[in-house]
Amino acid sequence: MYKIPANTLFLGKNLLFMPECHSTNTFALDLCQQSLPIADGTVVITDNQTSGRGQRGNNWEVEPGRNLTFSVILKPTFLAVNLQFYLNIFTSLAIHDYLREKGCLRMAIKWPNDVFINEKKVSGILIENQVHGNLLANTVVGIGLNINQAQFLELKNATSLGLILNREFDLQSELEILLTMLEARYLQLRQGHLSGLMADYLRAMYWINEAHTFGSNGQTFEGIICGVDESGRLKLRINHEEKVFGMKEISYLR
Ligand code: BTN
Repeated sequence: MYKIPANTLFLGKNLLFMPECHSTNTFALDLCQQSLPIADGTVVITDNQTSGRGQRGNNWEVEPGRNLTFSVILKPTFLAVNLQFYLNIFTSLAIHDYLREKGCLRMAIKWPNDVFINEKKVSGILIENQVHGNLLANTVVGIGLNINQAQFLELKNATSLGLILNREFDLQSELEILLTMLEARYLQLRQGHLSGLMADYLRAMYWINEAHTFGSNGQTFEGIICGVDESGRLKLRINHEEKVFGMKEISYLR
């Protein structure tokens, strides 16, 4: 059971809790399609997501009642479609801010928007947009943040806040803090502070300015991540030349 957060202006003021839900993202997208208007900042949250969806068609499976599993409905009608990657930026930065506030160290945002602590994934984000012409009408920001889960049998590179800080957390209190951080970063976006968001994102980026091995199109090569472009493609310096890669075009190897 979750309560409406006390410290936000609009985010979570309409909060729909379901003890069980197939996917909060699917549920939220369905709400956006209905004829009744749905409030900007509506949060759909569950304790037991039975068919959680991840990026690239993957599943998102976590232990019921131990983590934060929710979606936020936003109406970023101010944002041009070609700038939609800023939705990934503000969301991943908000989670990064939250983890810093909790006292975590060694966090990084692995492009496009996985949040890592100590080289292990603590949070995944799935953003789905509904577009009207050149502008974004509705956005569903789905967040899975591992809080109290202690074992990840199938996933070798996953962790939780509880494992990192060695204690249990109250999910309602953590939701309130996280929603406050999300709202602050979203307002930064709404006010048009794109360069500040981009600068913070680059600072938090995993492997930035380091030489590593990547794979693309069956080939392995050395490169240095040097940023992302406005449309969210990863920029890599390979043999003194800059190349850009879309989300399905590259994998991080070592
Ligand atoms: C990923 O890293 O692959 C993204 C995972 C996103 C999971 C969240 S949990 C809440 C929301 N509802 C879903 O079905 N998926 C997202």
